[in-house]
Amino acid sequence: MNDKLKEDFPIEWEDDHFVTRREFFKFLTLASGGIAVGTAALAAYAQFPRDEIKFEAARICLTDDLKPGSALAFSYPRPGDLCILVRKQDGELVAFKRRCTHLSCPVEYEVKNERELLYCPCHNGAFSLEDGSVVQGPPPHPLPQVKIEVRGNEVWATGVIKGDH
Ligand code: FES
Repeated sequence: MNDKLKEDFPIEWEDDHFVTRREFFKFLTLASGGIAVGTAALAAYAQFPRDEIKFEAARICLTDDLKPGSALAFSYPRPGDLCILVRKQDGELVAFKRRCTHLSCPVEYEVKNERELLYCPCHNGAFSLEDGSVVQGPPPHPLPQVKIEVRGNEVWATGVIKGDH
């Protein structure tokens, strides 16, 4: 250190070094704390379903109205919002918005090569019955899923889970 600098900043080299190290560890502590908080926030976020939007619950049908391997069209949450309720071959009930995310043609429940899916006849698009993800064709986004609840012997729609768009 030159003399002029020492005059203006009268810090001994040892102290100067110590301050630098202390600042570095302070930075490390803050950074690791930030990472820990960020990780905890991400873990908490992952506990919640993808962007679920609640709407007023609406009765769709009776549980007996659908045999395994069949589907029923309904509207939710507003009249004209096309949806489809499917009772899969294993008996599980699932529901999705019915407008294809490509150019809005209505999708149909189909079994192709022993695989159950929602098929769009307009351009051979297809969506998974597990989560609405695109399994074939040009649709750019998954189908939004309709949240359903079985209340006694009735099936109700209670909200919509948006896809990744
Ligand atoms: S409108 Fe469904 S694939 Fe084109």
